[in-house]
Amino acid sequence: MAIIRSSLIVSTLALFFYASCTDAHVSLTPKFAEPGQNLTTAFHIPHGCNGSATTGIFVTVPDAITLLTPQQVNNWTLTTTYRDESNQSISTISWFGGVLAPKDSLDFPMTLSLPNSDLSTQSNVTLYFPVVQTCQVGTANWTALGNDKEGEPAPTLVIVKNATQAAADAIAIKNNATTSTTSSSAAASQASSVASSIYAGALPFAAVIGTLAIAL
Ligand SMILES: *[C@@H]1O[C@H](CO)[C@@H](O)[C@H](O)[C@H]1NC(C)=O
Ligand SMILES: *[C@@H]1O[C@H](CO)[C@@H](O)[C@H](O)[C@H]1NC(C)=O
Ligand SMILES: *[C@@H]1O[C@H](CO)[C@@H](O)[C@H](O)[C@H]1NC(C)=O
Ligand SMILES: *[C@@H]1O[C@H](CO)[C@@H](O)[C@H](O)[C@H]1NC(C)=O
Ligand SMILES: *[C@@H]1O[C@H](CO)[C@@H](O)[C@H](O)[C@H]1NC(C)=O
Ligand SMILES: *[C@@H]1O[C@H](CO)[C@@H](O)[C@H](O)[C@H]1NC(C)=O
Ligand SMILES: *[C@@H]1O[C@H](CO)[C@@H](O)[C@H](O)[C@H]1NC(C)=O
Ligand SMILES: *[C@@H]1O[C@H](CO)[C@@H](O)[C@H](O)[C@H]1NC(C)=O
Repeated sequence: MAIIRSSLIVSTLALFFYASCTDAHVSLTPKFAEPGQNLTTAFHIPHGCNGSATTGIFVTVPDAITLLTPQQVNNWTLTTTYRDESNQSISTISWFGGVLAPKDSLDFPMTLSLPNSDLSTQSNVTLYFPVVQTCQVGTANWTALGNDKEGEPAPTLVIVKNATQAAADAIAIKNNATTSTTSSSAAASQASSVASSIYAGALPFAAVIGTLAIAL
């Protein structure tokens, strides 16, 4: 059972790295999860602010997430604040002090526990993680919720009954909407190198090998 579960998660990760290659928005990858699941996901920063290098990522954690562990990223300082003085539940995360060239992308990972959302009367629950991206010149506010018009859309985590199915559907919709410019082998090798570099520390060794096998 554990093996089946981990291979499902790994294939979801692999699909999502493929899907996120051309995404120009700050987003969570992967972004679909199931009620009560423990998930390792990452803020994918695709580029700087209007041509300026990224120097900080400031995240507001939604109230529904009470168990979360952000991960260190080399050359970036990680700080957190808590909802109350018991220091149990993280409310904000910052990674700052690095310099990410304007055209470069980088992932800032975390593991978290999803709430046990009731999906009997709704198909999904969307959690928003507003992000302010600071740059050497200017900022980008990825803080718009739902249909807000102010700022860029906030990264979302979508709780669904079948995260594997939701991920596949999202890729199908995306592939219909855009013509792919990367060959599948180039995309797959990019996916495997990103996945192994980010998740090597977070997933069991066998799962990382599984990611490589699927991507290849
Ligand atoms: C998620 O992680 C927490 C903390 O490590 C653990 O207590 C819990 O049992 C895990 N839940 C699942 C569904 O694996
Ligand atoms: C982005 O940079 C260009 C050229 O430096 C400038 O003309 C434009 O106003 C900037 N856009 C924003 C939204 O800051
Ligand atoms: C961290 O900074 C050092 C010194 O500037 C540099 O050599 C190294 O490549 C950086 N590491 C990463 C992962 O960016
Ligand atoms: C919570 O964190 C603050 C700031 O680091 C610290 O002063 C305080 O003692 C901590 N409280 C507990 C219960 O650990
Ligand atoms: C989430 O639910 C909304 C309506 O409640 C629906 O429009 C949307 O397509 C759903 N998204 C997914 C990924 O299921
Ligand atoms: C982002 O929000 C801050 C604070 O509300 C504001 O000062 C800044 O101008 C905004 N940046 C952009 C690019 O809209
Ligand atoms: C989830 O979706 C996958 C892929 O479409 C499917 O094979 C699997 O049976 C679904 N699982 C459930 C519990 O619906
Ligand atoms: C993709 O396009 C095909 C043909 O236009 C259509 O049959 C299919 O339903 C579309 N799939 C999605 C997920 O939009």
